[in-house]
Amino acid sequence: MPNNTVPLVYEEYGQGLPVVLIHGFPLDHTIWEPVVPLLRPHARLILPDLRGFGKSPAGEGVTKQTMRMMADDLLALLDQLGIEQAVLAGHSMGGYVALAFAQAYPHRLGGLGLVGSQAAADKPERRQARMKMADEIKRRGLPHAINGMAEKLTAKAELVEPVRELILSQDPKVVIASLKGMAERPDMTEELSSITCPAVVVAGLQDAMLPLERAQEANQLLVWSWLVEIPDAGHLMMMDQPAATADALHKFFHTIESNQTK
Ligand code: MLT
Repeated sequence: MPNNTVPLVYEEYGQGLPVVLIHGFPLDHTIWEPVVPLLRPHARLILPDLRGFGKSPAGEGVTKQTMRMMADDLLALLDQLGIEQAVLAGHSMGGYVALAFAQAYPHRLGGLGLVGSQAAADKPERRQARMKMADEIKRRGLPHAINGMAEKLTAKAELVEPVRELILSQDPKVVIASLKGMAERPDMTEELSSITCPAVVVAGLQDAMLPLERAQEANQLLVWSWLVEIPDAGHLMMMDQPAATADALHKFFHTIESNQTK
């Protein structure tokens, strides 16, 4: 059991196959709410706020939060709930956290969903941009530093303002700590071929944050995986196209369950 984990605040809905829906950066569990009514009849959904995001406490004195730290918190949550094995579906940074979990705790993972996510590490330019953003947040504040970000996250004009508000409700210190953690996350591309549980890769065809090639690459390297491309969806496809996103995940849950009963 890892040390220094943080007790995560989470929502729980439905019964059956345990599925953890992990949010991305710099957001919280509420991004998944549009798919909850569609998925709750089919699974036990657990929606945590990662450390320091939403209502979850931040790690005390932590100035850089790594993907592994956030994966360890999820392990502690599964232990607390008495769940031996869960499906982890992570959006973007949540996918990086799910991959860190897959590497550290493969026996606790019953399925992996990479939703608008990738296995590749940051290129040097991206790493630099993250450090610049962290610096801007410190010097000029979150509202200035995230200017234009909500527009890149969603393909739906009417969602830009709610997404912007959600970003602004996050703790600037935690946003900085996770930028640093993402910048130094290891490349997990090589790891993909050792993940043997079922996997699904979901990509929004209008994703302005992540090129489709990254999703295609992850899908090719995972042992047992398929790719779902969602039209008219940006990076936040669960908000942009909840029905199509829920459908992709439901089919995935169904496949896992059919496989378990074989
Ligand atoms: C996210 O949505 O979690 C971020 O876009 C991930 C990233 O910046 O790499």
